[in-house]
Amino acid sequence: MAQQRILTGITPSGTPHLGNYAGAIRPAVEASRQTDVESFYFLSDYHALIKTGSPERIRRSTLEIAATWLAAGLRPERVWFYRQSDIPEIPELTWLLTCVTGKGLLNRAHAYKAAVDKNALDGADPDAGVTMGLFMYPLLMAADILMFNAHKVPVGRDQVQHLEMARDIAASFNHRHGEHFVLPEAAVDEAVATLPGLDGRKMSKSYDNTIPLFAPAAELKKLVFGIVTDSRAPGEPKETEGSPLFQIYQAFATPDETEAMRARFREGIAWGEAKEILFDKLDAVIAPMRARYEELIAEPERIEQVLKSGAERLRAKYAMPFIAKLREAVGLRRLDRTLAETAQARPKTRKPQFRQYREADGLFYFKFVDGDGRVLLQGRGFASPREAGQAVADIKNGADFAQWADPAEDVSRDAIARALDALRAE
Ligand code: TRP
Repeated sequence: MAQQRILTGITPSGTPHLGNYAGAIRPAVEASRQTDVESFYFLSDYHALIKTGSPERIRRSTLEIAATWLAAGLRPERVWFYRQSDIPEIPELTWLLTCVTGKGLLNRAHAYKAAVDKNALDGADPDAGVTMGLFMYPLLMAADILMFNAHKVPVGRDQVQHLEMARDIAASFNHRHGEHFVLPEAAVDEAVATLPGLDGRKMSKSYDNTIPLFAPAAELKKLVFGIVTDSRAPGEPKETEGSPLFQIYQAFATPDETEAMRARFREGIAWGEAKEILFDKLDAVIAPMRARYEELIAEPERIEQVLKSGAERLRAKYAMPFIAKLREAVGLRRLDRTLAETAQARPKTRKPQFRQYREADGLFYFKFVDGDGRVLLQGRGFASPREAGQAVADIKNGADFAQWADPAEDVSRDAIARALDALRAE
């Protein structure tokens, strides 16, 4: 089997903080060390245009995030690490997908709906302040994913709907133009901790309660001492449950260290001392990365080079050949060749085949596709996979397909018969 492809995007609209590191960067860098996966990590700067109106902030954030991932141990020679806007095939694919996507699908997107609901509450026009960028956000994200036929997409829970949309969009395209896209899946890691911030709520830029990952040591210390605690005095036993200080410690310490800290809480450690220990731990983990980060950030041309080189190689290997195939499929074709010549020029590598799948209606279907993935026959729904499988077997053995399936539009019975013969001849 081909390697699993794992892909995720990071929108460059802020400065990385401890929560980003523990929740996204560290697990991703660890996962990228596995040899049985092909990983894609990219800076979704086209998405940043939707979120922020500050050009300089996007540049700065792109630099900081790229330097952070490299400082955290991402190896750009082993994974695909690139910037979205360096791959012009992505906006091109966005348009191809736009043309097979119902407007109603996007009407249902949470972020868009929230904006419309807020306008209704304010008595404003429903679409006041809503850009087409916000509306199209899920389509651009689908193109990011489908461009590289990613199987798994690690995201936060808030992005799961976008992944469902990407699957719907991929299925519409496949249905209309042949099987080009893998249907991607969201991978939401329940085990990954969301870190609390300074005020005890989830650490997030929007709550202004973050601890920047690479704050200088003195600032880090000041911030750690600003983490909320309760008013228990030294010597009074303290709760670890619900303590932001304890939770942050746990995310950076070993299990043994965490247990030791738990015991200290029970014994009534003073908050000041607990903060001292937390700071020492954070600084010990972060300092070596911070040194690398500072070197990297001082040489933006090196980071530019890393990103450019990633995009160039990725375009040559995947994006350019794939978009050529997709353009052909939708009808953006050369004029100096007939369809038959084009088909001939392209080596037929795949054989016709039956595919079985389940639909949202709960029934089991099959279809018969040619070597290009074009649908020739569409099976009707069966109650069980076994019945669908039996129909497929019968057709392969020479039974008339008409009792279980219909020819696809524009496909002649002759073409179907020829493809079935090819299949049976194996
Ligand atoms: N929308 C994602 C976020 O805000 C970022 C993103 C853009 C992304 N394109 C993607 C994530 C493709 C995964 C796959 O977090």
